[in-house]
Amino acid sequence: MSSFQIKEGIHWVGARDWNLRWFHGPAYSTHQGTTYNSYIIKDEKNVLVDGVYKPFIDKFFEHIEEVIEFKDIDYYIVNHVEPDHSSSFPRTMERLKDDVTVICSAKGKEGIIEHYGDGYNFKVVNTGDTVNIGSRNLTFVNASMLHWPDSMFTYISEDKLLLSNDAFGMHLCVSQLFDDQADDCLIMNESEKYFANILTPFSSILLKKLKEVQEMNIEIDMIAPAHGIIWRNKPTKIINKYLEWAEGKTKEKALIVYETMWDSTELMAKKIADGLIDQGIEVHFYRKSDSDKNDIIKEFLDAKAIIVGSSTINNVIIPELVPLLEELEGLRFKNKIGASFGSYGWRGGATKRIADRLEKANIKLVEKPLEVIYVPNQEQLKECYEFGVRIAHKIKQEI
Ligand code: FEO
Repeated sequence: MSSFQIKEGIHWVGARDWNLRWFHGPAYSTHQGTTYNSYIIKDEKNVLVDGVYKPFIDKFFEHIEEVIEFKDIDYYIVNHVEPDHSSSFPRTMERLKDDVTVICSAKGKEGIIEHYGDGYNFKVVNTGDTVNIGSRNLTFVNASMLHWPDSMFTYISEDKLLLSNDAFGMHLCVSQLFDDQADDCLIMNESEKYFANILTPFSSILLKKLKEVQEMNIEIDMIAPAHGIIWRNKPTKIINKYLEWAEGKTKEKALIVYETMWDSTELMAKKIADGLIDQGIEVHFYRKSDSDKNDIIKEFLDAKAIIVGSSTINNVIIPELVPLLEELEGLRFKNKIGASFGSYGWRGGATKRIADRLEKANIKLVEKPLEVIYVPNQEQLKECYEFGVRIAHKIKQEI
């Protein structure tokens, strides 16, 4: 038995995916796997909340059967149609009774039909709609674009429990799934990585949604997301962190990300780092080809400065660096400053192209591109150091 009770009468029946190393295809590294959290609510009417990724369906069914018979489930809430939660939907529906009601948002209904066909008994809900299941009232909150158009939350006032699907989740697979049983540093890091890589583009929507939830005056003493840890000890901590991240709050922190051919750009990067460090700035330093893209993106979230360097090859940026610049543009971080640097042989080009990409990503350039020919000499290394010092001052001014 590995299902467990999260509140009186409410059970986790999801699945652990220990071995997952990439999520969203190759887009998101999951060094420690993930979980697909599903829940059964037992009351006068019984409810299944969310499903799992299809390869884990047998474990999911085993967990459901530990707490209830399929024929006794009256409602199936689909908070989100992305396949990591819904690809188990068709086979689950085959096991449930014919008149089971599928509760979802209007976009959720469309999504289910597009993925799995029609013919289900849908009940479409929107923000504020409630369904009574006996001693409990389930209230729904439309969470469109957090992070798909169909996303919604389910709230149970009697249990002060928010079933938030992807929001407040993380990709982490551990044996004990409550926040007070896990390493705090690990779970906050994984939450931050999840937010930075998945939710950043939706920050403005998220701020509006959190305000809307606050205005509903709902009390929350547990948040049970669809991935990773269940927040029973610190729901307020993760909500406050989400507010901070969504507002684009930054600190005196700089990221230096670079790619180098014959070490010249790396020499420059190290001197720029020295200049920043000597001014008390927290520096994170990555050679792109030796680093995990998603871990770098996590560090972008609260950094004030993003400093990107590349040698010039065939008049352009070393291609290894380009996908990260593309991600920066898509993620649309707020309140950042930046600069570019690099070495070249007979004709430059990379630093200007990086600067253009940073501007497109809404990053305010605070220095002209810094370039050296071939190998930086002592004078040029001094310039790199001063470049770092000047950026440090800008960071302090703009925080
Ligand atoms: Fe966990 Fe958006 O799926």
